[in-house]
Amino acid sequence: MTTADIIATEDRYQIPTYKKFPLALDRGEGIWVWDTDGRRYADFYGGHCVVPIGHSAKPVVDAIAEQAARLMFYSNVVYSPVRAEAAETLARLAPEGLQHVFFCNSGTEANETALKMARTFTGKTRVVAMTAGFHGRTLGSLIATEGAYRRPYEGILPETTFVPFGDADALEAALDAHDDVAAVILEPIQSMAGLYTASNAYFERLRAACNAADCLLIFDEVQTGVGRTGTFSISESIGVRPDLITLAKSLASGIPVGAVLASDAVAAHVKLGDQGTTFGGGMVAMAALTATLRTIEADGLMARATQVFDRVAERLAGNVVEVRGGGCLIGVELDRPAAPVVQALLERGYLTGTSGDKNTMRLMPPYTVPMDVVDDFCDTLRDVLDTP
Ligand SMILES: Cc1ncc(COP(=O)(O)O)c(C=O)c1O
Repeated sequence: MTTADIIATEDRYQIPTYKKFPLALDRGEGIWVWDTDGRRYADFYGGHCVVPIGHSAKPVVDAIAEQAARLMFYSNVVYSPVRAEAAETLARLAPEGLQHVFFCNSGTEANETALKMARTFTGKTRVVAMTAGFHGRTLGSLIATEGAYRRPYEGILPETTFVPFGDADALEAALDAHDDVAAVILEPIQSMAGLYTASNAYFERLRAACNAADCLLIFDEVQTGVGRTGTFSISESIGVRPDLITLAKSLASGIPVGAVLASDAVAAHVKLGDQGTTFGGGMVAMAALTATLRTIEADGLMARATQVFDRVAERLAGNVVEVRGGGCLIGVELDRPAAPVVQALLERGYLTGTSGDKNTMRLMPPYTVPMDVVDDFCDTLRDVLDTP
């Protein structure tokens, strides 16, 4: 099939819910992906914030192949050495006090599970979430997702109180105004919104307010987690521990895995049968997770993610309005709309993304991206910005 045939065939049969780059990818290695015409791109989109150790990384490919040949799948009605190893590895890397894990298959499923746990733990129902936050597109996660994704389903979703991210006064006022709050959920860096961060002082007030209101604090770390911002969970650098953390994207290098990390108290409250999924914790997925996490740990890649951020910030200083975010979750605010710049970069062989803020580009490269590729990218971006 030619590239045009591939695009026409997908468009003919796939329900058109995605805006796509106009290319068909064929293979990948490290930071690089190749399209079906053999053209190479440096992937600063990271397969959608998914590939921490690069595309088709050998340790993961080997682990998947070996596990697939041994036993591809069995559900949680049996124990498995590969699942035990994955759970132990994840618990070891998780922040102190959040060593209990529930495996599922995606970010939205992890968030729904966390919201369910908060409801049963507190016996309360209301969710407080952040304006412009994103937590997934299934109905349970839309409870906490503000804006256009939620709007068509308003009537059937429980009432949610939305407050601006980073505004501790508004958060405290919302918790004072409602005595039925089960959980506050937020992305510790608001990614889709435009890579907005908040101060440690904000997170300290957030934690204190949740304690005072007897509700749980959920960090959606689907994007920030797995070392992407320099520590396994961003809670470690913020210095504030939530009751629940949700993870997905980077966990298993592209094999679908979601996970909920829970405190002792929350985990102790979950009853047999409260949660469950056929595919969560499947053997091939667990093998991919363990291989991914071990490589991140052994190669010191969390620290490297921070170096990538520093390099981008240094190389773009003075050429853009702001570089914000953390580690390999980078927002580059421009003095103009980002979409045409993303298009121009694509034409020059770089995959990058836009965000909810029209002037902000998103970069989510593998933590392994070579520094000379980062430098070339920054030079190319500067050149694109200088080209009339
Ligand atoms: C912060 C955040 N939470 C949740 C999700 C939903 O994850 P998934 O697409 O795996 O359901 C996403 C997806 O982009 C996300 O960015």
